[in-house]
Amino acid sequence: MQGSANLNLMIKAARKAGRSLVKDFREVENLQVSAKGPGDFVTKADREAERIIRDELMGGRPTYGWLGEETGETAGQDPTRRWIVDPLDGTTNFLHGLPHWAVSIALEHKGEIVSAVVYDPAKDEMFWAEKGAGAWMNESRIRVSGRRHMIEAIFATGVPFGGRGTLPATLQDLARLMPVCAGVRRWGSAALDLAYVAAGRYDGYWERGIQAWDMAAGLLLVREAGGFVGAVRTGDDPMEKGAVLAGNGALYEPFAKVIRGE
Ligand code: IPD
Repeated sequence: MQGSANLNLMIKAARKAGRSLVKDFREVENLQVSAKGPGDFVTKADREAERIIRDELMGGRPTYGWLGEETGETAGQDPTRRWIVDPLDGTTNFLHGLPHWAVSIALEHKGEIVSAVVYDPAKDEMFWAEKGAGAWMNESRIRVSGRRHMIEAIFATGVPFGGRGTLPATLQDLARLMPVCAGVRRWGSAALDLAYVAAGRYDGYWERGIQAWDMAAGLLLVREAGGFVGAVRTGDDPMEKGAVLAGNGALYEPFAKVIRGE
């Protein structure tokens, strides 16, 4: 499968940032045992990855706009196109030496995500999609799962940490969902949670209180893999509200009903 020139640029940027992050991740594993811990080091690794991605993408497409987790928003000469980048999604995992984190890059055109890359360097899994061209993992086409019964399904979420205000709502979601499904996972990377829904590994995912850069690429992956995405509240825009719900075609509605308490 041949991607567009933009997609190839995104893949190149993700691989380059991934190499830098893998090198730093090895160092983080060593720093776990030090008294100071790897906190400052990880902040630097995260910023360096964003610098690498920005240099690649803005070097190749200098007129596009930019939204990055570390460097914020920069309007482009071309107001219709914007990169949306999370250089390190799953920072807490990275900090603790857990090999489950990703680089997430999306291209938005006229308010719609048209190309997406979520790269997991620790497992060398490159998830990518383009509008109308399907979703892929490395060289293989991926699709959402075919499960049709809630009781067989596994869902992923992020449980808010550090006193975030969305904790009580999430605990209520869990109380409603856990008795009617096969399990809930909380692995700590929203971008990979969505990529895993696209790959049929999870049957659905929801999370409150996340940012556009955590989900932009993953939303297109799920859509192009044949799944549905929306917001936790019916009719909202997930990127605007920071509350996302995704699932395969058969389970999206029943799953959404449980999360919405309907
Ligand atoms: C975090 C991850 C995590 C989610 C958090 C996000 P970051 O992103 O996506 O899964 O639960 O809400 O902040 O900070 O590692 O880029």
